[in-house]
Amino acid sequence: MEQTSLFGEVRSARNQVAVAFVPDFAGWQAAARAQWQAGTPPEAIWWQPDRQAMAGGETDGSAPRVPRAFVSLARTAACHRSADRWALLYQLLWRLTHGERHLLELSGDPQVARVNAYAKAVRRDIHKMKAFVRFRAVAEPDAPDDAPRYVAWFEPEHFIVEKASGFFRRRFANMRWSILTPYRCAHYEGASAGGVWFSPGTDKSAAPEGDVLEDAWRTYYRSIFNPARVKISAMRSEMPVKYWKNMPEAHLIPQLLREADRRVEVMQEQVKDRDVMRCGPRPISPEAEHAHALARSPANTLDRLALQARTCCNCPLGEKATQTVFGEGPRTARVMIVGEQPGDSEDLAGRPFVGPAGQLLDRALAQAGIDRAALYLTNAVKHFKFEPRGKRRLHARPDDAEVFACKPWLDNEIELVEPTLIVAMGATAGRVLLGRPVQVTRERGMIVSHGDRRILLTVHPSYLLRLPDAQVAKRATAQFSRDLAQARAWL
Ligand code: URA
Repeated sequence: MEQTSLFGEVRSARNQVAVAFVPDFAGWQAAARAQWQAGTPPEAIWWQPDRQAMAGGETDGSAPRVPRAFVSLARTAACHRSADRWALLYQLLWRLTHGERHLLELSGDPQVARVNAYAKAVRRDIHKMKAFVRFRAVAEPDAPDDAPRYVAWFEPEHFIVEKASGFFRRRFANMRWSILTPYRCAHYEGASAGGVWFSPGTDKSAAPEGDVLEDAWRTYYRSIFNPARVKISAMRSEMPVKYWKNMPEAHLIPQLLREADRRVEVMQEQVKDRDVMRCGPRPISPEAEHAHALARSPANTLDRLALQARTCCNCPLGEKATQTVFGEGPRTARVMIVGEQPGDSEDLAGRPFVGPAGQLLDRALAQAGIDRAALYLTNAVKHFKFEPRGKRRLHARPDDAEVFACKPWLDNEIELVEPTLIVAMGATAGRVLLGRPVQVTRERGMIVSHGDRRILLTVHPSYLLRLPDAQVAKRATAQFSRDLAQARAWL
C-alpha cells in the first residue's frame, strides 16, 4: 500500500521512501549512491523500478567505497529477474560500508548466499544464450550488399541480453544480426556501423520460423551425435528442454535417442569387420627400458656390469651427478688404466677420459706408441663429485667412504677383464688398488705386485694440467709418457 506524505513524497505502508530508478545496474547505482549519501538505511527504502525515472537525485560527489568484487557481483546479480534484487544489493552495499567490509567472504551469510545464487543463475543463463541462439537468414530488401540479416529468437530467464550481446558482437562481427527476446532485442549492423543497439522486447511471431541453414544444422548435429555416449540426464541439464523449440537440430533428439541402441550395435558390428587401427609402439620409461636391458644382458659381462652400475646408490654421489660413467674398452684388453673419477665433461658425455685430462692422456699414449683402443679405461669412482660455483662445477676429491663404496665395481671390472697390467694414475687410484696410501712422486714409474696383480703407478693427467710452469709441465708430461710406455711391453 502506498500513500503520499504531507511533503509530497510517496511512502509505503511501512513508511518507507519510494525511490524511483531506471531498472538497470547504472540506474540503481545512481539512485543507491544518492540514498547512501543521504544516509538512508536499507529498511527505509521502497525501490520503485521506473523506465521513465530521472537519474539518482542530488549527490555531493562522494561515493561509497566498496570492494571491487562487489561491483562486479552486483552488476551480474542486477540482471536476475527477482524483484527483490535491488533491495538486496542496497542492503549489501550498506553493510559493506558500515563495519562489514569483509562481508562477501562470509558465503554462509543469507544475503551473501542469495546474491551469489543470483549471479550464478545469470551467468548460467548467459552461457545458455551463447550456446543455444540459432540464427535464421532473413532477406533484407534494402540491404546494400544483398546480404541477409540473421535473426534469432531466444527466451532468456533473466535480463541478460545487454550483458551477453558483447559475445555475439565479437563472434558475428561481419554479419548483420538481431536477437529477439520477450523483454529486449539486440541488433547489430556490422563492424563498420557502430555497436550493438537495443529495442523493446517483442513476441515470437516477429522471428522467422525456418531457413535453408536449418538443414545444415540438422546434418551437422546428426553427424556429431554419438549414440554410444548418450547420457540423457546430462544432456537435459546441459541443453534444457525449454530451449529445444528454438533449435532446429533439437527436433532430431527424440528420434536419435530411440535409435541409439540399434546404432551402437551396428557400430560394434562394423568394428568387428574392420581392421582395428594400430598405433606405433608405446614409449617406455627409462626405468622400464633399463629393467628390460638388464633382463636381456648375459651374466658375467661388462655390459651387464655397466647396466647394474647405472642405478648404483652405494654412496650419495650419484644423486648429484648426471650419470654413472663406467669403464670402456675391450674385455680382452691386456692393460687397464684407472683414473680417479669422471670430470665435468665425462659426467655429461657418460664416457671416461673425454675432457681435457683425457685429451692429455691421449697425447701421452700416442707419444708412448700405445693405441687407446687396445686399453680398458676406467676410474676408481664412477660418479663426478663436484662443488657448484656459479654456473661451474668444480672437481672435488672423493673421500675414503666414497672411494671404497665404489670399489666393488672396479674389482668386478678387473675380474672380468683380467688385465696383465693395471696403470694407476694418481693417489686415489693407487690407494684403492694397492690398499694403502701412496706417494705418487716417490713411487711412480715402478711396476709392483699386489696379490696376483701387477700395478704401475704414475701421475694423474689433471696434475700435469695444473702445473703452473710450462717448462716443468713439459718435462713432467714427457716423463708421464715414458711411464706409460712401460705398458707397451704388456699389451
Ligand atoms: N679424470 C679422471 O680421473 N677420469 C676421467 O674420466 C676424467 C678425468
